[in-house]
Parts: sequence; structure tokens; C-alpha cells
Amino acid sequence: MKRNIYQSSTEVSYALIRHIIKMLSNEPERVFHIAFSGGSTPIQMFDLWANDFADLTPWKQIRFWWVDERWVHSDSKENNYGQMKRYLLDVVGIPPEHIFPILTEGHPAAEAKRYSALVDKHVPKRRDIPSFDLVLLGVGSDGHTSSIFPGQEHLLSSPHTYEATENPYNKQSRIALTGVPIINARQVIFLITGDEKAKVVHQLCSSGDMFPAAYIAHRARKVELFLDSVAARGLSAAIQ
Ligand code: 6PG
Repeated sequence: MKRNIYQSSTEVSYALIRHIIKMLSNEPERVFHIAFSGGSTPIQMFDLWANDFADLTPWKQIRFWWVDERWVHSDSKENNYGQMKRYLLDVVGIPPEHIFPILTEGHPAAEAKRYSALVDKHVPKRRDIPSFDLVLLGVGSDGHTSSIFPGQEHLLSSPHTYEATENPYNKQSRIALTGVPIINARQVIFLITGDEKAKVVHQLCSSGDMFPAAYIAHRARKVELFLDSVAARGLSAAIQ
């Protein structure tokens, strides 16, 4: 997997934004279905993207999907859609018809089924499985990605595009994109920054079977890591 390492998290964000803009610009007639993760890491990227690259991005080519969602109201700072709405979608003025949030209403299992059907309807398939153009992932210090935590490896081979699951540490309900469609994406990018991720980055690069993020990283079709220098301090690659 290709490692893109930059001195600071700001530089990583800029590099990733430029990477996405280049991907869009290379196929200007194409609609790109991109699934975004949440958590804290991508917030800086969303903020910089909305404020420094708004005029350089062909927004109309992007359809916004989510990798996972926490079962909290979209107004909550914990809600992945709500955070992206706050920092990017509302700032740029993305048309609602291009945005497909996971709805945290009703029951998680029913929403997982609804969202799976929505993705199956809109996202082009490869080998009869939805194939996002890009899946943007983060990694927890425990090696989870999407909302697939260690001990939930059954979600890596689920026949369902999304499943209802839970954060094992606080029992919070989650909706998660499962392993098969993630691996089937045209491109998977891990955005990982911060000193607290150095160990998991080293482990992820060392073995494909230590935890869910490693399983994905070693099996997805095309994988790139976008890292800052502190998250990459356990690796030998030169800093760009
Ligand atoms: C989520 C994310 C999750 C995240 C990792 C890293 O909803 O929490 O999708 O997979 O990417 O937990 O989170 P941080 O960026 O906050 O470290």
C-alpha cells in the first residue's frame, strides 16, 4: 500500500484534498460516489476543503455517502453526518440531492437495511457488489475502522452492505459499512494523524490479520495511507 507522509496534519489534509480533486478532474464527466468516515481526524480536512479549496473542487461530481454512523441525533457533535454538514456541506452549499446521510431515527437494524438498499440502488456494482469510487477510512488506536471493532470480525465478511452494530466500549449503537464492499471499492484511503496512532500504523503496515483495519488494508483493491509524521514515526518511508 502506498504511504503518503507529510510533516503536519494540515499538510496531510491539503495533500488528500488535492488527491481527490485530481481524481475528479481526471474524469470530469463522471459522478463519484465517495463514502466518508467520521471521528475527529477528518474534521480538519473538511474545514480546510470548504475554506481553501471550495472554488477548485467540482462538487457536482461528488455524491456524499457515509462509511458509518453513531446512533445519535444529527445535531450531536458525535454524529458523523452532522459534523460534515457543519464543516463542509453547509459551508459549500452542496445540493441535498447529492447527500445521502445515514438517518439515526427508528431502529438501527431497519436503517442498516434501508441504507444498504439505497447504496445498492445508486452506487455502481462490481461483481454484483456496490463499488464506491473512494472509501475514506480512519483507524482507532485499537485497530477498528468503519465501525468494525476487534471482536466483530464477522462484519468483515457480512453478506449485507451495512449492518447495525455497537461500539463495544460504550455500547453505543452504530451502523457500519461492512468489509466486502469496502474491499470492493475502486480506492480505499486511510487518513491517520496523531502520535497516538503511531503504534497502530506500524502494526497495520506489518500484518494483515491483527485487527479489522489491517484486514482491510491488506485486501482492498487499491489502498493509500495519508499520514502525518508523528503517526508514521514507526515507519521507515521518507517524509514528503
Ligand atoms: C467513527 C469513525 C471511525 C474513526 C476512527 C478514528 O465513526 O468513529 O468512522 O472509524 O475513523 O474511530 O477516529 P478518530 O479520527 O476520532 O481518531
